[in-house]
Amino acid sequence: MNYVEMKAPAKINLGLNIISKRDDGYHNLETIFYPIYDLFDKIVVEKSDSFRFTSDNAHLTDDESNLIVRATRLLENKFKKIFNINIYLEKIIPMGAGLGGGSSDAAAILLVLNDMFKLGLSYGKLSEIALTLGSDVPYFLKPKPALGKSRGEELEFLEIIIDKPILLVNPGIHISTKEAFQNIKPTPLVGRIELGAKIASGDVRSFNGLLSNDFENYVFERHPEISGIREALVADGALFSQMTGTGSTIYGIFEDIESAERSKKRLPENYFTFISHHGF
Ligand code: C5P
Repeated sequence: MNYVEMKAPAKINLGLNIISKRDDGYHNLETIFYPIYDLFDKIVVEKSDSFRFTSDNAHLTDDESNLIVRATRLLENKFKKIFNINIYLEKIIPMGAGLGGGSSDAAAILLVLNDMFKLGLSYGKLSEIALTLGSDVPYFLKPKPALGKSRGEELEFLEIIIDKPILLVNPGIHISTKEAFQNIKPTPLVGRIELGAKIASGDVRSFNGLLSNDFENYVFERHPEISGIREALVADGALFSQMTGTGSTIYGIFEDIESAERSKKRLPENYFTFISHHGF
């Protein structure tokens, strides 16, 4: 295999509860990861005679601030090899938006390198390596609906399918994940999301009152513009609307495509918007 094209999809969190602070500085959490297959970054990898990373997004450079480069270096160090490859990334998922784009790209590169250079890493080993790159990276090795625990690497796959359009709205506000975690008071109430997952299954209306994102209070207080988006989507008929991750993207699940389109049209033109059609 000398040439691969990969799609690295986005995700949303259906509920996100912070349970406790751990001795290693991270937090234990519970969430449902839900993949957005039709919003994805495109990654092309081909064997070459040197390493090169390029992207249509000029903010992404070929140093280790870039998770794709960091993932490559990590495997190089582990296997004492040099991977001479050209990587091209078409960046479509908004960055720092709670949609997991960077984590998804990193997981995709781990999978590609494992295949391309026949590294023989099992899913379990890949997951361990992925976790050293970021808490959400293990999830993207198998991006299917899943209940996530611990830092998000303990995964239990779920049978949830949302058969309705999902409108994603990102106003371009940057929220620091680290700061959001530093400012949250954990609620040691395990099982809230699990209960939600069981009861809610596919009935989107029942997500209300069952699935909450503990970061909303912190983020909404500092950025009323973000809570304003949620209010607008609900006023436009969203059956369920919530912030994903630590923000700043808000999603709304609508009954039909017409109401999702109508709601999208009312938003400011400089916002990133996307309607996922995947599940129906
Ligand atoms: O794992 P990741 O690098 O994405 O996390 C960014 C920051 O968010 C961490 O440095 C940590 O401060 C915080 N975090 C946390 N608990 C988690 C995930 C992230 O405290 N489960």
